[in-house]
Amino acid sequence: MIVMEEMLVIRGGSPLKGDITVHGAKNAVLPLLLAGTLTDEEVEISDCPFISDVEAMTLLMRSLGVDVSREGRSIRVRGSAKRANADGALSKTMRSSMFMLGALLSTVHEVHMPLPGGCNIGARPLDIHIDGLRAMGARVEAGEDMLDCYADELRGADIVMRYPSVGATENLMMCASLAKGDTRLINCAREPEIVCLAKGLKSMGADISGEGTSVMRIRGVGRLKGASLAPCGDRIVAGTLVAATAVAGGDVRIYGVDPSDISSVTDVFKSEHCRISGDDVCVRVRADGRIHPVNISTAPFPLFPTDMQAQLMGAMCFSDGVSVIDETVFERRFAHARELVKLGADITLDAGRAIVRGSALTGRKLQGAIMHARDLRGGAGLAIAALGAEGESAIFDIGYIDRGYERLEDMFSCLGADISRLPVQGEM
Ligand code: EPZ
Repeated sequence: MIVMEEMLVIRGGSPLKGDITVHGAKNAVLPLLLAGTLTDEEVEISDCPFISDVEAMTLLMRSLGVDVSREGRSIRVRGSAKRANADGALSKTMRSSMFMLGALLSTVHEVHMPLPGGCNIGARPLDIHIDGLRAMGARVEAGEDMLDCYADELRGADIVMRYPSVGATENLMMCASLAKGDTRLINCAREPEIVCLAKGLKSMGADISGEGTSVMRIRGVGRLKGASLAPCGDRIVAGTLVAATAVAGGDVRIYGVDPSDISSVTDVFKSEHCRISGDDVCVRVRADGRIHPVNISTAPFPLFPTDMQAQLMGAMCFSDGVSVIDETVFERRFAHARELVKLGADITLDAGRAIVRGSALTGRKLQGAIMHARDLRGGAGLAIAALGAEGESAIFDIGYIDRGYERLEDMFSCLGADISRLPVQGEM
Protein backbone atom coordinates (compact mmCIF):
# COMPACT_ATOMS: atom_id res chain seq x y z
CA MET A 1 0.00 0.00 0.00
CA ILE A 2 1.39 3.41 -0.89
CA VAL A 3 1.36 5.76 2.10
CA MET A 4 1.17 9.37 1.00
CA GLU A 5 3.01 11.40 3.61
CA GLU A 6 3.96 14.98 2.89
CA MET A 7 7.07 17.02 3.53
CA LEU A 8 8.06 20.66 3.34
CA VAL A 9 11.00 21.47 1.06
CA ILE A 10 12.63 24.82 1.79
CA ARG A 11 15.50 26.54 0.01
CA GLY A 12 17.02 29.25 2.19
CA GLY A 13 18.16 32.69 1.11
CA SER A 14 14.99 34.43 -0.08
CA PRO A 15 13.97 37.56 1.81
CA LEU A 16 10.31 37.93 2.84
CA LYS A 17 8.30 40.84 1.53
CA GLY A 18 4.64 41.77 1.61
CA ASP A 19 1.50 42.05 3.72
CA ILE A 20 -0.13 39.12 5.51
CA THR A 21 -3.15 38.66 7.78
CA VAL A 22 -2.96 35.90 10.39
CA HIS A 23 -5.92 33.57 10.93
CA GLY A 24 -8.00 33.22 14.09
CA ALA A 25 -6.06 31.80 17.01
CA LYS A 26 -6.17 28.03 17.45
CA ASN A 27 -6.01 28.50 21.22
CA ALA A 28 -8.97 30.87 21.14
CA VAL A 29 -11.16 28.90 18.72
CA LEU A 30 -10.92 25.64 20.70
CA PRO A 31 -12.39 27.00 23.97
CA LEU A 32 -14.92 29.13 22.07
CA LEU A 33 -16.24 25.99 20.37
CA LEU A 34 -16.87 24.44 23.78
CA ALA A 35 -18.36 27.64 25.14
CA GLY A 36 -20.90 27.21 22.35
CA THR A 37 -22.19 24.06 24.07
CA LEU A 38 -23.15 26.03 27.19
CA THR A 39 -26.44 27.11 25.61
CA ASP A 40 -29.17 25.43 23.60
CA GLU A 41 -29.26 28.39 21.26
CA GLU A 42 -27.07 28.65 18.16
CA VAL A 43 -23.52 29.98 18.55
CA GLU A 44 -21.41 30.85 15.52
CA ILE A 45 -17.65 31.12 15.73
CA SER A 46 -16.08 32.99 12.82
CA ASP A 47 -12.55 32.82 11.35
CA CYS A 48 -11.93 29.21 12.39
CA PRO A 49 -8.68 28.16 10.70
CA PHE A 50 -8.54 24.94 8.66
CA ILE A 51 -6.13 23.18 11.03
CA SER A 52 -6.31 19.63 12.29
CA ASP A 53 -6.79 20.50 15.96
CA VAL A 54 -9.97 22.42 15.11
CA GLU A 55 -11.28 19.63 12.88
CA ALA A 56 -10.48 17.05 15.57
CA MET A 57 -12.31 19.11 18.19
CA THR A 58 -15.46 19.26 16.05
CA LEU A 59 -15.29 15.47 15.65
CA LEU A 60 -14.90 15.08 19.42
CA MET A 61 -17.89 17.37 20.01
CA ARG A 62 -19.95 15.37 17.51
CA SER A 63 -19.03 12.20 19.41
CA LEU A 64 -20.69 13.84 22.42
CA GLY A 65 -23.85 14.47 20.47
CA VAL A 66 -23.24 18.16 19.82
CA ASP A 67 -24.72 19.52 16.58
CA VAL A 68 -21.64 21.24 15.14
CA SER A 69 -21.01 22.09 11.50
CA ARG A 70 -18.45 24.04 9.54
CA GLU A 71 -19.67 26.59 6.96
CA GLY A 72 -16.57 28.01 5.27
CA ARG A 73 -14.43 29.72 7.89
CA SER A 74 -17.29 29.73 10.42
CA ILE A 75 -18.40 26.89 12.68
CA ARG A 76 -21.92 26.71 14.08
CA VAL A 77 -22.65 25.00 17.39
CA ARG A 78 -26.29 24.24 18.10
CA GLY A 79 -26.94 23.05 21.61
CA SER A 80 -25.20 21.18 24.36
CA ALA A 81 -23.63 17.78 24.50
CA LYS A 82 -26.01 14.84 24.80
CA ARG A 83 -23.52 12.30 26.16
CA ALA A 84 -20.94 12.27 28.91
CA ASN A 85 -18.57 9.77 27.32
CA ALA A 86 -16.02 11.36 25.06
CA ASP A 87 -14.62 9.37 22.14
CA GLY A 88 -11.68 7.53 23.71
CA ALA A 89 -9.31 7.52 20.75
CA LEU A 90 -10.00 11.13 19.82
CA SER A 91 -9.83 12.59 23.32
CA LYS A 92 -6.60 10.70 23.95
CA THR A 93 -4.93 12.26 20.93
CA MET A 94 -5.89 15.78 21.80
CA ARG A 95 -4.70 17.62 24.83
CA SER A 96 -7.29 20.28 24.18
CA SER A 97 -10.02 17.71 24.90
CA MET A 98 -9.42 18.86 28.46
CA PHE A 99 -11.42 21.97 27.67
CA MET A 100 -14.51 19.74 27.51
CA LEU A 101 -14.42 19.18 31.26
CA GLY A 102 -15.90 22.53 32.22
CA ALA A 103 -18.47 22.66 29.45
CA LEU A 104 -19.71 19.09 30.04
CA LEU A 105 -19.90 19.43 33.82
CA SER A 106 -21.98 22.59 33.38
CA THR A 107 -24.47 20.99 31.00
CA VAL A 108 -24.46 17.20 31.19
CA HIS A 109 -23.28 17.22 34.80
CA GLU A 110 -20.84 14.38 34.26
CA VAL A 111 -17.81 13.56 32.13
CA HIS A 112 -16.08 10.25 31.47
CA MET A 113 -12.95 10.57 29.40
CA PRO A 114 -9.58 8.89 29.03
CA LEU A 115 -6.83 10.95 30.60
CA PRO A 116 -5.27 12.70 27.58
CA GLY A 117 -1.81 11.51 28.66
CA GLY A 118 1.34 13.48 28.33
CA CYS A 119 2.60 14.63 24.99
CA ASN A 120 5.89 15.46 23.33
CA ILE A 121 6.38 18.60 25.38
CA GLY A 122 5.65 17.39 28.87
CA ALA A 123 3.62 15.32 31.34
CA ARG A 124 0.71 17.79 31.24
CA PRO A 125 -0.87 16.92 34.65
CA LEU A 126 -4.42 18.02 35.46
CA ASP A 127 -4.27 18.74 39.19
CA ILE A 128 -5.12 22.43 38.80
CA HIS A 129 -8.21 21.59 36.72
CA ILE A 130 -9.30 18.90 39.20
CA ASP A 131 -8.68 20.97 42.36
CA GLY A 132 -10.74 23.82 40.91
CA LEU A 133 -13.63 21.58 39.86
CA ARG A 134 -13.69 19.95 43.30
CA ALA A 135 -13.73 23.40 44.93
CA MET A 136 -16.91 24.07 42.93
CA GLY A 137 -18.51 20.90 44.22
CA ALA A 138 -17.67 18.41 41.48
CA ARG A 139 -16.79 14.82 42.37
CA VAL A 140 -13.69 13.88 40.37
CA GLU A 141 -12.23 10.38 40.26
CA ALA A 142 -8.90 10.27 38.43
CA GLY A 143 -7.99 6.64 37.72
CA GLU A 144 -4.95 5.21 35.93
CA ASP A 145 -6.16 6.32 32.55
CA MET A 146 -9.72 7.47 33.02
CA LEU A 147 -11.23 10.64 34.45
CA ASP A 148 -14.76 10.41 35.84
CA CYS A 149 -16.40 13.64 36.97
CA TYR A 150 -19.87 14.28 38.38
CA ALA A 151 -21.51 17.56 39.37
CA ASP A 152 -25.24 17.70 39.96
CA GLU A 153 -24.78 21.31 40.94
CA LEU A 154 -21.73 23.55 40.65
CA ARG A 155 -21.30 26.24 43.27
CA GLY A 156 -19.23 29.42 43.07
CA ALA A 157 -15.99 29.35 45.07
CA ASP A 158 -12.78 31.24 45.74
CA ILE A 159 -10.14 29.26 43.85
CA VAL A 160 -6.43 29.97 44.22
CA MET A 161 -4.59 28.41 41.27
CA ARG A 162 -1.09 27.25 42.14
CA TYR A 163 -0.01 28.10 38.57
CA PRO A 164 -1.81 30.26 36.00
CA SER A 165 -2.81 27.30 33.83
CA VAL A 166 -4.49 28.45 30.60
CA GLY A 167 -6.67 25.37 30.17
CA ALA A 168 -7.64 25.17 33.82
CA THR A 169 -8.61 28.86 33.79
CA GLU A 170 -10.78 28.27 30.73
CA ASN A 171 -12.44 25.18 32.21
CA LEU A 172 -13.21 26.98 35.45
CA MET A 173 -14.55 30.03 33.59
CA MET A 174 -17.01 27.79 31.77
CA CYS A 175 -18.07 26.08 35.01
CA ALA A 176 -18.39 29.32 36.96
CA SER A 177 -20.49 31.02 34.29
CA LEU A 178 -23.45 28.73 35.06
CA ALA A 179 -22.63 27.87 38.68
CA LYS A 180 -24.72 29.01 41.64
CA GLY A 181 -23.05 32.00 43.25
CA ASP A 182 -19.82 33.90 42.77
CA THR A 183 -16.41 32.55 41.81
CA ARG A 184 -13.03 34.22 42.09
CA LEU A 185 -10.17 32.71 40.11
CA ILE A 186 -7.04 33.89 41.88
CA ASN A 187 -3.69 33.66 40.05
CA CYS A 188 -5.58 32.78 36.86
CA ALA A 189 -4.09 32.91 33.36
CA ARG A 190 -3.99 36.31 31.64
CA GLU A 191 -3.40 35.25 28.01
CA PRO A 192 -5.24 37.10 25.21
CA GLU A 193 -7.14 33.87 24.55
CA ILE A 194 -8.53 34.07 28.08
CA VAL A 195 -9.72 37.64 27.46
CA CYS A 196 -11.20 36.45 24.16
CA LEU A 197 -13.11 33.62 25.88
CA ALA A 198 -14.40 36.02 28.55
CA LYS A 199 -15.58 38.40 25.83
CA GLY A 200 -17.36 35.55 24.09
CA LEU A 201 -19.02 34.27 27.27
CA LYS A 202 -20.12 37.83 28.17
CA SER A 203 -21.72 38.20 24.73
CA MET A 204 -23.66 35.03 25.64
CA GLY A 205 -24.81 36.66 28.89
CA ALA A 206 -22.12 35.60 31.37
CA ASP A 207 -21.23 37.97 34.22
CA ILE A 208 -17.39 38.16 34.20
CA SER A 209 -14.95 40.85 35.27
CA GLY A 210 -11.19 41.07 35.76
CA GLU A 211 -10.28 39.02 32.69
CA GLY A 212 -6.69 39.72 31.65
CA THR A 213 -5.66 40.26 35.27
CA SER A 214 -4.65 37.71 37.89
CA VAL A 215 -8.04 37.77 39.62
CA MET A 216 -11.19 37.07 37.63
CA ARG A 217 -14.66 37.37 39.16
CA ILE A 218 -17.53 35.35 37.69
CA ARG A 219 -21.12 35.55 38.93
CA GLY A 220 -23.09 32.50 37.85
CA VAL A 221 -26.21 33.13 35.74
CA GLY A 222 -29.20 30.88 35.12
CA ARG A 223 -28.63 30.40 31.41
CA LEU A 224 -26.57 31.63 28.48
CA LYS A 225 -27.87 32.64 25.08
CA GLY A 226 -26.73 32.25 21.48
CA ALA A 227 -24.21 34.70 19.99
CA SER A 228 -21.70 35.26 17.20
CA LEU A 229 -18.17 34.87 18.54
CA ALA A 230 -14.91 35.97 16.95
CA PRO A 231 -11.51 34.56 17.97
CA CYS A 232 -8.58 36.91 18.48
CA GLY A 233 -5.83 36.70 15.85
CA ASP A 234 -3.22 34.01 16.34
CA ARG A 235 -0.38 35.76 18.19
CA ILE A 236 1.88 32.70 17.88
CA VAL A 237 1.47 32.60 14.08
CA ALA A 238 2.22 36.35 14.08
CA GLY A 239 5.28 35.77 16.26
CA THR A 240 6.39 33.02 13.91
CA LEU A 241 6.26 35.53 11.04
CA VAL A 242 8.33 38.03 13.04
CA ALA A 243 11.01 35.40 13.70
CA ALA A 244 10.99 34.25 10.06
CA THR A 245 11.44 37.80 8.76
CA ALA A 246 14.24 38.47 11.24
CA VAL A 247 16.09 35.40 9.89
CA ALA A 248 15.34 35.72 6.17
CA GLY A 249 15.51 39.50 6.06
CA GLY A 250 12.94 41.61 4.24
CA ASP A 251 9.97 43.85 4.94
CA VAL A 252 6.71 42.30 6.15
CA ARG A 253 3.53 43.86 7.50
CA ILE A 254 1.50 41.55 9.76
CA TYR A 255 -2.22 42.21 10.23
CA GLY A 256 -4.97 40.47 12.18
CA VAL A 257 -3.39 40.47 15.62
CA ASP A 258 -3.32 43.07 18.39
CA PRO A 259 0.34 44.26 18.41
CA SER A 260 0.25 44.50 22.20
CA ASP A 261 -0.41 40.73 22.29
CA ILE A 262 3.04 40.04 20.81
CA SER A 263 5.06 42.84 22.39
CA SER A 264 7.09 40.33 24.45
CA VAL A 265 8.12 38.72 21.14
CA THR A 266 8.78 41.89 19.14
CA ASP A 267 10.80 43.31 22.07
CA VAL A 268 13.14 40.30 21.85
CA PHE A 269 13.74 40.60 18.10
CA LYS A 270 13.94 44.40 17.93
CA SER A 271 17.44 45.71 17.04
CA GLU A 272 19.21 48.01 14.59
CA HIS A 273 19.11 45.05 12.18
CA CYS A 274 15.47 44.20 12.84
CA ARG A 275 13.33 47.33 13.02
CA ILE A 276 9.81 46.70 14.28
CA SER A 277 7.15 49.40 14.00
CA GLY A 278 3.48 49.68 13.23
CA ASP A 279 0.20 50.99 14.59
CA ASP A 280 -2.75 49.47 16.41
CA VAL A 281 -3.60 47.08 13.56
CA CYS A 282 -0.28 46.19 12.03
CA VAL A 283 3.20 45.04 13.00
CA ARG A 284 5.87 45.93 10.44
CA VAL A 285 9.18 44.06 10.46
CA ARG A 286 12.12 45.35 8.40
CA ALA A 287 15.21 43.20 8.79
CA ASP A 288 18.58 42.71 7.13
CA GLY A 289 18.91 39.12 8.33
CA ARG A 290 21.48 39.81 11.06
CA ILE A 291 20.45 38.56 14.49
CA HIS A 292 21.60 39.58 17.96
CA PRO A 293 21.71 36.96 20.76
CA VAL A 294 19.13 36.96 23.55
CA ASN A 295 18.82 35.79 27.12
CA ILE A 296 15.20 34.86 27.85
CA SER A 297 13.01 32.66 30.02
CA THR A 298 9.62 31.52 28.82
CA ALA A 299 6.75 32.34 31.19
CA PRO A 300 3.00 32.93 31.30
CA PHE A 301 1.57 36.00 29.56
CA PRO A 302 2.56 38.85 29.37
CA LEU A 303 6.12 37.49 29.36
CA PHE A 304 7.81 35.58 26.52
CA PRO A 305 5.50 32.73 25.44
CA THR A 306 6.60 29.11 25.56
CA ASP A 307 4.82 28.62 22.22
CA MET A 308 7.45 30.90 20.63
CA GLN A 309 10.49 29.22 22.20
CA ALA A 310 11.26 26.90 19.28
CA GLN A 311 10.87 29.69 16.73
CA LEU A 312 13.21 31.89 18.77
CA MET A 313 15.78 29.07 19.00
CA GLY A 314 15.58 28.61 15.22
CA ALA A 315 16.40 32.28 14.77
CA MET A 316 19.18 32.43 17.40
CA CYS A 317 21.09 29.73 15.49
CA PHE A 318 22.17 32.61 13.19
CA SER A 319 23.05 35.24 15.80
CA ASP A 320 26.44 36.93 16.30
CA GLY A 321 26.64 35.83 19.92
CA VAL A 322 25.61 33.32 22.57
CA SER A 323 21.91 33.04 23.50
CA VAL A 324 20.53 31.51 26.70
CA ILE A 325 16.97 30.19 26.48
CA ASP A 326 15.29 28.89 29.65
CA GLU A 327 12.08 26.91 29.09
CA THR A 328 10.23 27.20 32.40
CA VAL A 329 6.68 26.26 31.33
CA PHE A 330 7.08 22.73 29.94
CA GLU A 331 9.67 20.20 30.96
CA ARG A 332 10.33 18.57 27.57
CA ARG A 333 10.13 21.27 24.96
CA PHE A 334 13.58 21.15 23.32
CA ALA A 335 13.06 18.27 20.84
CA HIS A 336 13.66 20.71 17.96
CA ALA A 337 17.24 21.33 19.18
CA ARG A 338 18.58 18.00 17.91
CA GLU A 339 16.93 18.66 14.56
CA LEU A 340 18.47 22.14 14.31
CA VAL A 341 21.88 20.59 15.01
CA LYS A 342 21.45 18.66 11.73
CA LEU A 343 21.71 22.05 9.98
CA GLY A 344 25.00 22.64 11.80
CA ALA A 345 23.57 24.69 14.66
CA ASP A 346 25.65 24.90 17.84
CA ILE A 347 23.20 24.15 20.68
CA THR A 348 23.94 22.76 24.13
CA LEU A 349 21.10 21.58 26.36
CA ASP A 350 21.28 21.45 30.13
CA ALA A 351 17.97 20.48 31.79
CA GLY A 352 15.57 23.35 30.99
CA ARG A 353 18.28 25.56 29.48
CA ALA A 354 19.50 25.80 25.88
CA ILE A 355 22.74 27.59 25.02
CA VAL A 356 22.84 28.62 21.36
CA ARG A 357 26.10 29.86 19.79
CA GLY A 358 25.04 31.64 16.60
CA SER A 359 26.66 30.97 13.22
CA ALA A 360 27.67 34.63 12.83
CA LEU A 361 29.80 34.12 15.95
CA THR A 362 31.23 30.67 15.17
CA GLY A 363 31.62 31.27 11.44
CA ARG A 364 29.95 27.90 10.76
CA LYS A 365 27.17 28.63 8.26
CA LEU A 366 24.05 26.49 8.56
CA GLN A 367 23.52 24.10 5.63
CA GLY A 368 20.21 22.60 4.50
CA ALA A 369 19.39 19.17 5.98
CA ILE A 370 16.67 16.58 6.40
CA MET A 371 14.74 17.17 9.65
CA HIS A 372 11.68 15.82 11.45
CA ALA A 373 9.09 17.92 13.24
CA ARG A 374 8.70 16.57 16.79
CA ASP A 375 5.82 18.81 17.87
CA LEU A 376 3.73 21.68 16.57
CA ARG A 377 5.84 24.75 17.41
CA GLY A 378 9.10 22.83 17.09
CA GLY A 379 8.19 22.18 13.46
CA ALA A 380 7.71 25.91 12.88
CA GLY A 381 11.13 26.51 14.45
CA LEU A 382 12.73 24.13 11.95
CA ALA A 383 11.06 25.93 9.04
CA ILE A 384 12.39 29.27 10.28
CA ALA A 385 15.93 27.92 10.49
CA ALA A 386 15.63 26.37 7.02
CA LEU A 387 14.69 29.80 5.63
CA GLY A 388 18.07 31.09 6.80
CA ALA A 389 20.21 28.04 6.01
CA GLU A 390 22.21 27.67 2.79
CA GLY A 391 20.78 25.18 0.30
CA GLU A 392 17.76 22.95 0.55
CA SER A 393 16.10 21.42 3.62
CA ALA A 394 13.30 18.91 3.96
CA ILE A 395 11.01 18.68 6.99
CA PHE A 396 9.10 15.44 7.59
CA ASP A 397 6.22 14.68 9.99
CA ILE A 398 4.62 17.98 9.11
CA GLY A 399 1.28 16.75 10.47
CA TYR A 400 2.45 18.31 13.72
CA ILE A 401 2.74 21.70 11.98
CA ASP A 402 -0.69 21.31 10.40
CA ARG A 403 -2.21 21.09 13.87
CA GLY A 404 -1.72 24.82 14.36
CA TYR A 405 -0.70 26.48 11.08
CA GLU A 406 -3.06 26.78 8.13
CA ARG A 407 -0.73 25.70 5.25
CA LEU A 408 2.55 27.13 6.59
CA GLU A 409 4.05 26.82 3.10
CA ASP A 410 1.45 29.20 1.63
CA MET A 411 2.03 31.65 4.45
CA PHE A 412 5.75 31.86 3.68
CA SER A 413 5.65 31.42 -0.11
CA CYS A 414 3.18 34.32 -0.53
CA LEU A 415 5.90 36.46 1.07
CA GLY A 416 8.56 35.21 -1.35
CA ALA A 417 10.03 32.20 0.43
CA ASP A 418 11.15 29.22 -1.64
CA ILE A 419 9.03 26.57 0.10
CA SER A 420 6.70 23.83 -1.10
CA ARG A 421 4.73 20.88 0.23
CA LEU A 422 5.57 17.66 -1.62
CA PRO A 423 4.26 14.11 -1.31
CA VAL A 424 6.58 11.52 0.17
CA GLN A 425 5.77 8.08 -1.19
CA GLY A 426 6.52 5.26 1.16
CA GLU A 427 5.60 1.59 1.36
CA MET A 428 3.68 0.16 4.30
C1 EPZ B 1 -2.29 25.95 26.59
O1 EPZ B 1 -2.04 24.61 26.98
C2 EPZ B 1 -2.01 26.00 25.10
N1 EPZ B 1 -2.90 25.07 24.41
C3 EPZ B 1 -0.56 25.62 24.83
O2 EPZ B 1 -0.33 25.77 23.43
C4 EPZ B 1 0.36 26.57 25.58
O3 EPZ B 1 1.70 26.18 25.39
C5 EPZ B 1 0.01 26.56 27.07
O4 EPZ B 1 -1.40 26.86 27.25
C6 EPZ B 1 0.83 27.57 27.86
O5 EPZ B 1 0.60 28.85 27.35
C7 EPZ B 1 -4.18 25.44 24.15
O6 EPZ B 1 -4.60 26.53 24.52
C8 EPZ B 1 -5.01 24.46 23.38
P1 EPZ B 1 -1.19 25.12 30.84
P2 EPZ B 1 -2.45 24.13 28.48
O7 EPZ B 1 -2.28 24.41 31.54
O8 EPZ B 1 -3.69 24.82 28.90
C9 EPZ B 1 1.25 22.66 34.03
C10 EPZ B 1 0.32 25.16 21.28
O9 EPZ B 1 1.43 24.94 20.78
N2 EPZ B 1 -0.06 22.24 34.55
O10 EPZ B 1 -1.12 26.61 30.92
O11 EPZ B 1 -2.40 22.67 28.53
C11 EPZ B 1 1.52 22.08 32.64
O12 EPZ B 1 2.04 20.78 32.74
C12 EPZ B 1 0.01 24.61 22.65
O13 EPZ B 1 -0.59 25.84 20.75
C13 EPZ B 1 -0.10 21.50 35.72
O14 EPZ B 1 0.93 21.19 36.32
O15 EPZ B 1 -1.20 24.73 29.30
C14 EPZ B 1 2.54 23.04 32.10
O16 EPZ B 1 3.81 22.72 32.60
C15 EPZ B 1 1.15 23.81 23.24
N3 EPZ B 1 -1.31 21.09 36.19
C16 EPZ B 1 2.09 24.39 32.68
O17 EPZ B 1 1.25 24.07 33.80
C17 EPZ B 1 -2.48 21.40 35.56
O18 EPZ B 1 -3.56 21.01 36.05
C18 EPZ B 1 1.28 25.23 31.70
O19 EPZ B 1 0.19 24.47 31.27
C19 EPZ B 1 -2.42 22.15 34.36
C20 EPZ B 1 -1.19 22.57 33.88
